[in-house]
Amino acid sequence: MPVSTCVFDAYGTLFDVTAAARRAAREPGQERLAEIWPRLAEDWRRKQLEYTWLRAIMGDHTDFRNVTRQALDWALEASGLDDAALTLRLMALYDALDAFPEVPATLAALRARGKSCAILSNGSPDMLASAVASAGIHAHLDAVLSVEDVGVFKPDPRVYQLVCDRLGVRPDQVLFVSSNGWDASAAARFGFHTAWVNRAHAPVDRLPHIPAHVLTDLSQIPDLSERL
Ligand code: LAC
Repeated sequence: MPVSTCVFDAYGTLFDVTAAARRAAREPGQERLAEIWPRLAEDWRRKQLEYTWLRAIMGDHTDFRNVTRQALDWALEASGLDDAALTLRLMALYDALDAFPEVPATLAALRARGKSCAILSNGSPDMLASAVASAGIHAHLDAVLSVEDVGVFKPDPRVYQLVCDRLGVRPDQVLFVSSNGWDASAAARFGFHTAWVNRAHAPVDRLPHIPAHVLTDLSQIPDLSERL
């Protein structure tokens, strides 16, 4: 049976997670941030993901907004930039991340081919609603699914099961797209068709299940969805 549904990871896949630090670094009075923002963005993202994995293993869930704030606190302290106003500014910018340029056209092309489009993300519902609204992609999406419905972060299999339960599809009807290699690996293990969007040209993760397709951006997804 052909793929009926494309499910996208949100952060790093549809939304550019470096955009918050990059934008804040251009604002008046942020000369120090302007020097170090790439490292801040990298530390923030790395700690954010580590905290999701650790909380899932420890069985101690909190929502993604808290995890994102705690990771930012760590990253700012590591950069010697402990500043309450900057913390609030960066968290606000995280609610209005840029979408990657090809996102609207990719979603529109999928819908034109009769595919359903959805997000499956660690993001809490309010964060996802803000990001979707600011990127202007709401009209292209059939569903926005948050891990908050199961109370555990990716890559717990209960998260991927949400897609089947909420959208009424079998795993083999789904193309799951993520820029996070570990997320694509877990989705492949679950039984989805998978595409890893390897924007950073990173080596493939040495995990038990490897993504079936590796792309450099999202623009090839509509054609791929027809071939599966
Ligand atoms: C998400 C993170 C993993 O959106 O990027 O779920």
